[in-house]
Amino acid sequence: MMYLKMYLLSRRAYSGLLFSQGSMATCLRKGKSLIKPCLCRNISLSCQRYTVMASWIIDRYGRNDVLRFTNNMMFPVIHFPNEVIIKVHAASLNPIDVNMRNGYGAAALNAKRDPLKLKSTRSEFPLTLGRDVSGVIMECGLNVSYFKPGDEVWAAVPPWKQGTISEFVVASGNEISHKPKYLSHIEAASIPYVGLTVWSAMKQIGGLNQDNCTGKRILIFGASGGVGTFAIQVMYYNKPSHLCKGIHYRWAFFTPSGQSLDEIAKLVESGKIHPVVQQVFSFSEVPKAFLKLEGGHARGKTVISVINKK
Ligand SMILES: NC(=O)c1ccc[n+]([C@@H]2O[C@H](COP(=O)([O-])OP(=O)(O)OC[C@H]3O[C@@H](n4cnc5c(N)ncnc54)[C@H](OP(=O)(O)O)[C@@H]3O)[C@@H](O)[C@H]2O)c1
Repeated sequence: MMYLKMYLLSRRAYSGLLFSQGSMATCLRKGKSLIKPCLCRNISLSCQRYTVMASWIIDRYGRNDVLRFTNNMMFPVIHFPNEVIIKVHAASLNPIDVNMRNGYGAAALNAKRDPLKLKSTRSEFPLTLGRDVSGVIMECGLNVSYFKPGDEVWAAVPPWKQGTISEFVVASGNEISHKPKYLSHIEAASIPYVGLTVWSAMKQIGGLNQDNCTGKRILIFGASGGVGTFAIQVMYYNKPSHLCKGIHYRWAFFTPSGQSLDEIAKLVESGKIHPVVQQVFSFSEVPKAFLKLEGGHARGKTVISVINKK
């Protein structure tokens, strides 16, 4: 028992170190116990090859041919004590992924990534796209108490962070939420980004809730796409008097929020909101998934089964 405690303490103490997390990844991937013998001085070492993972990346902005698969993407590191590492089971695509591949928002996102210009390398590349994730927590930072390794979670990772079309991703504890139990990872990955966009637009910006929708009219554009299919379900549940022509508008934006996802999870679990998945692609088919999204006429979400490597 004493030995076990010592090991756990040393694992938490080294949670920010790349080599420690690499050894954890190895254990999980091979389905072995996470508990490994302490080596000398309580330091757990792993081979260099375990510090990398499979990922779809871009090395420059451009059209679909800039997407590149690699088995050598640097394994993500916990930099802050409120962060977790998630083993990605499924990710989904949004128009922002196509736009970011093309270079959308690069200057603003780089300013957000490194506001004080402290990094020695000025480049955001190699860059992983993908905002939505459904997966399993592999490791938690020292201040994370609400989640634990092994929890099934869903999240939308903000665009200035490395994305989810990757075997593993780091997210803040504030951005993640427990995945609704009755959804598969594929279904769960279809909701966070569009759900949080609608939540931000309707609840935070529009101030709409279940009690104040009566007599209000709401116009939803692009209702067959990811945002639209979610928005219609929320509005149906809130029951405004008409879903028709609007006369007032304000801009709203996706806001990452684990807390809002908790509320969305309750609606999903009570059967009020259903995932709308149009097509699922395997991890090897990511460029095809981008082409499909770029082709327009979305009728629900495009999801990538990251654990399906075929
Ligand atoms: N600012 C933010 O934070 C934020 C967050 C999420 C999404 N967005 C934006 O919101 C939009 C919708 O996102 P999404 O995820 O729902 O995309 P999506 O899944 O690709 O769906 C887009 C929908 O819009 C329809 N559409 C395309 N052109 C249209 C037009 N001119 N008039 C009316 N409908 C049109 C499409 O159907 P047809 O192609 O058949 O017309 C499709 O149903 C995108 O522009 C996205 O970039 C912004």
